[in-house]
Amino acid sequence: MIYLDNAATTFIHPDVIETIQTSLAQVKGNPSSVHELGFEATREWNAAKDTIANIFHVSKKQLIFNSSGTEANNIVIQGRYYKTPKARFITTLTEHSSVLNTFKALEKRGADVVYLDVDEQGFISLGDLESALQEAPTTLVSILHTNNETGVIQAIEAITKLAHQYGALVHYDMVQVLMHAPVDLAAIGCDFATFSAHKFFGPKGVGLTYIKDLTTLEPHTVGGSQEYRLRAGTPNLSLAKGFVKALEITEQNRADWHTKITHLSKTLLEKLDASSLKYTLNGPPIGTSRIPGTLNIAFDGVDAIDLRFFLNDHEVYLSLGSACDADSMHASHVLTAMFKGDEARINSSLRFSFSPDINEADLDQLIHLIETYKKSA
Ligand SMILES: Cc1ncc(COP(=O)(O)O)c(C=O)c1O
Repeated sequence: MIYLDNAATTFIHPDVIETIQTSLAQVKGNPSSVHELGFEATREWNAAKDTIANIFHVSKKQLIFNSSGTEANNIVIQGRYYKTPKARFITTLTEHSSVLNTFKALEKRGADVVYLDVDEQGFISLGDLESALQEAPTTLVSILHTNNETGVIQAIEAITKLAHQYGALVHYDMVQVLMHAPVDLAAIGCDFATFSAHKFFGPKGVGLTYIKDLTTLEPHTVGGSQEYRLRAGTPNLSLAKGFVKALEITEQNRADWHTKITHLSKTLLEKLDASSLKYTLNGPPIGTSRIPGTLNIAFDGVDAIDLRFFLNDHEVYLSLGSACDADSMHASHVLTAMFKGDEARINSSLRFSFSPDINEADLDQLIHLIETYKKSA
């Protein structure tokens, strides 16, 4: 089996499984209870947040655990809409569906949302952003930090500066970042950031929202007083501990992973150059404003859906784009925004997303299979 779908999800690390199992067995109380079992759960909860706060250079009171990257994004976007329903929201055409569809739903309730276009490499234009900010008072600029389909990293520093200059708050969906780059939220200076544990060897079903100032959001889930009343519901301590464990493992190994994954990505392109296949890398070159581990590649004369089935039959697992849209037969909205009407390029593109567990022999096998498919097609 060759697994090249790490942008969809990574395989949970065995030490993370052990942490979750131990916590499930040992911590029995509800952190909201005012007795020793509750105090014990609260101590564990706070310790989990302390660890993350130290790594991200923020305060633990600015962190809210929740059920997923999807919910983490909804907490910010819906929360900001309930706070300031009349103001403008700015996002992009190439967001993850958890952002795009949240905005589409809010538009039905009357929200003013501007979707910025991208160029052929997947970057927004700062000029377009400034024009949208100038046109109307803007409450939130919500941008995908690192694109899940192409690995493209937007011009974060400039976007933050520009949005703040016009009084707008800034949210970055950073779900795809942690496996590849360290995160210092104080240095980034954004107002909100969102994460999901299953993208860096943690469990599925646990996300995290960073909120610089808790008073800037209204709750999207209403109930008890958990998570500063911004995300009601008894917290899932075991999964939160799994998030922390996965983050600690990532912090310890990221530099080595980055070296290995960069080498693998470059090697894949070199091997493709030496093969019979004609291809184009979608997005900017490796070594520029992108993560190396997510490569979106168009193969001349190939039907990507068909090739994915062929590879699946040979136990090579990858996606065309976002796993969350995999049930729809629509062409990728990200590639559509980048390449407009170039359907041949869009429909011949596949996403290869690496983990450090891949090796060069896997790449040889992959290329061999694509060549075999091409000959038989
Ligand atoms: C960029 C991005 N944002 C948000 C999400 C949603 O995260 P989750 O799967 O935890 O809901 C994903 C997952 O694919 C993603 O890639």
